Amino acid sequence: MYRTHTCGELRHADAGKTVTLAGWVQRTRDLGGMTFVDLRDRYGITQLTFNTDSDATLRETARSLGREFVVQVTGTVMERQSKNANMPTGDVEIFATELKVMNGSKTPPFTIEDETDGGDELRMKYRYLDLRRASVRKNFELRHRMAIEVRNYLSAQQFLEVETPVLIKSTPEGARDFVVPSRMNQGEFYALPQSPQTFKQLLMVAGMDRYFQIVKCFRDEDLRADRQPEFTQIDCEMAFVEREDILNTFEGLAKHLFKAILGKEMNEPFLRMAYDEAMRDYGCDKPDLRFDMRLHELNDITKGKEFKVFDDAELVVGIKAEGCAAWSRKQTDALIDLVKRPQVGATGIIFVRWGAEGLKSTVDKFYGPDDLQRWAERFGMQEGDLLCIMAGPAEKTRKALNELRLHLGDLLNLRDPNVFKPLWVVDFPLLEKDEESGRWHAMHHPFTAPVPADAHMLESDPGSVKANAYDLVINGTEIGGGSIRIHDRAMQEAMFRVLGFTDEEARYKFGFLLDAFEYGAPPHGGAAFGFDRWVALFGGRSDIREFIAFPKNNAGRDVMIDAPSVIDDIQLKELGLVVKG
Ligand code: AMO
Repeated sequence: MYRTHTCGELRHADAGKTVTLAGWVQRTRDLGGMTFVDLRDRYGITQLTFNTDSDATLRETARSLGREFVVQVTGTVMERQSKNANMPTGDVEIFATELKVMNGSKTPPFTIEDETDGGDELRMKYRYLDLRRASVRKNFELRHRMAIEVRNYLSAQQFLEVETPVLIKSTPEGARDFVVPSRMNQGEFYALPQSPQTFKQLLMVAGMDRYFQIVKCFRDEDLRADRQPEFTQIDCEMAFVEREDILNTFEGLAKHLFKAILGKEMNEPFLRMAYDEAMRDYGCDKPDLRFDMRLHELNDITKGKEFKVFDDAELVVGIKAEGCAAWSRKQTDALIDLVKRPQVGATGIIFVRWGAEGLKSTVDKFYGPDDLQRWAERFGMQEGDLLCIMAGPAEKTRKALNELRLHLGDLLNLRDPNVFKPLWVVDFPLLEKDEESGRWHAMHHPFTAPVPADAHMLESDPGSVKANAYDLVINGTEIGGGSIRIHDRAMQEAMFRVLGFTDEEARYKFGFLLDAFEYGAPPHGGAAFGFDRWVALFGGRSDIREFIAFPKNNAGRDVMIDAPSVIDDIQLKELGLVVKG
């Protein structure tokens, strides 16, 4: 038996017991007569003590222990003289009588404590050491508890967890596919699923009625803090449902998780907002509702005063930063720098301050006190507030203002990670036009049904058709999304036509689905939630990598195992792939 107890469980009441523990040496402290060793395992840290009463060789061994040595220790649980109230085991220590070094360790490349000196890349290269840190491990405990609660909730609602294949044919979700060459069918490739979308629909045709799966998805796309090339979805589908049934079911799931994981009762129904309203009022389709700071348009009260920037702009729009009238030039210049970055691409910001001497703007030459007063009224501005106004092409300007809004939200501490504002965004456009190619793209995916009232316009006026789709947004993060699906072959074919597929292409890519629709496909719909994102949200962090055991870096590399990597010529040949050189 390697151990009788873990390093996290001994308490005052255990005093006097003889115990055996095993774990890693967090650190040793040698105080002349006394040697202390902090022994760590997944469950906690327990202090081992060696003193002048200890056997001399035993003390010598204790003194020689390096960080991260793996040891087994037997000894007596003693009440500590100086207790440590910050540790659950802080009332006791083990007076060691036996000590066995089970394995040595090189000095780790960074300190394995909550606060570490290791940078990101180093931590990821030695992720197995990083994962020993309690502050990192707790993220996986959270992830585990959430997965259990998801399964409990959905099972109780009659959902069946069914596994779908990973070696498949392209399932389009808007990213590039990762592909796998087939050795047995040379020249042909599997695609890894961007989601199990088509399979879960086939499971509905198969009569499974309610399906879910906590499942890996793969997308070859640009990476960000909330995007990984392989990530996990809570993927769900239901038959014989309308939008309302789905929103209720998954609002139930979300409320269950809030309660079970965070102890938060979310009694109010989640807010709902149409896509158009979100874009108009917040400049984005996933507004962070922890703070108001809505966008207000000023076209009608800014034009025709010889100020070219406003006169020439499609849209003049602004936000109000409460209590920021006294911000220095340096502070406002920093805001301008932010919006001028190439990623945001705006040209500048016009400021209006309401200070002790009244309203003052950076465009006083063109706009008198009455104008500024009218602007102020639109925002419900009060003394002490600052207006930030931007002008330009409508869509781009709204997006840029959204960036500024979020930045101000951060600066003004309006985005408390312990406050949660869930929101359903509904009534998305079904399609969006790619300006370069002039082609329509499905905004969600090509299996999403139009809202019933718009279905007849699918081919005649695709741009004005709304989708029967919805996103769950919490605190400005898109946690999930889904839709009612097309379950009728003719409509699915029409959809493919609108997307520019020829009949042959549609049949080649999705013939299996079109065929299935001819064998009694029930009305159905579903949603998928980004599990990594949801865990990160509940963990109070924005970087999902902290919640993925072995994540990839922003270049899509696993720096620990060093992947992707080249494969040898023999393997290339076997796969029928060209050998270089
Ligand atoms: P969608 O593409 O919106 O929908 O994906 C669902 C959710 O998955 C999360 N997500 C990601 N998380 C981490 N890294 C990524 N690269 C990544 N991409 C997406 C997001 C997102 O909301 N089949 C449809 C769902 C459906 O219609 O039922 C789908 O996959 O949180």
